[in-house]
Amino acid sequence: MAINNSIQIAPSILAADFSRLGEQVAEAEAAGAERLHVDVMDGHFVPNLSMGPVVVEGLRPRTNMLIEVHLMVEAPAKFVASFINKGADLVIVHHEVLADARPVLADIKKRDKKAGIAINPNTPVDAIVPYLPLLDLALCMTVFPGFGGQTFLPDSTARIGRLRQLIAQHNPQCDLEVDGGIDSRTAPLAAGANVFVVGTGIFRHPLGISAAIRELKSAASSS
Ligand code: DX5
Ligand code: ZN
Repeated sequence: MAINNSIQIAPSILAADFSRLGEQVAEAEAAGAERLHVDVMDGHFVPNLSMGPVVVEGLRPRTNMLIEVHLMVEAPAKFVASFINKGADLVIVHHEVLADARPVLADIKKRDKKAGIAINPNTPVDAIVPYLPLLDLALCMTVFPGFGGQTFLPDSTARIGRLRQLIAQHNPQCDLEVDGGIDSRTAPLAAGANVFVVGTGIFRHPLGISAAIRELKSAASSS
């Protein structure tokens, strides 16, 4: 089967201006962003709190973009149904909190939604192999999760390359996503990825959201 190399940009609303969230999401969509990345933090798995299902509920009628929920929480199985019921299309859980991710992946798939697994920068990439045939997306974190605005970790380049090899072997249709410190300068360091999550680099770009997305698309396609 052919490798899935369709380049997509996923703005992370964590860096958005929440007083103008609807407007900013509309601008990102008009500029060609394909998916919306919603970061969910529980104050346990990561030392920060963020958003819940109500945010997905508010955005769902305002966008046709795929909505992906990145669950940075200790007990992801508890929240799958509520995010999907509010309109999430893809749910990403962290490998580090699950002894066996298969039941939660099966629950997501049973609800006819896409399933993803994220791995932290210090988790061996090969840990994802048993799950690859079940995944729509594998997320290689390029910072330690918890906060926007961090610096891309340079070791990520080799990890992304390895993950691309594993995907080619085990499930070529699976998306390879990167998240953390991505902008038009670091996107080329993530060669092999096809989905780029970007918060600060889009919503805090000095030239605005549309210019940021244009720059990212060209940087990502030349990587
Ligand atoms: C980090 C989150 C990211 C974050 C990315 O814990 O998972 O999605 O919003 O933000 P930037 O692009 O600012 O690094
Ligand atoms: Zn994220």
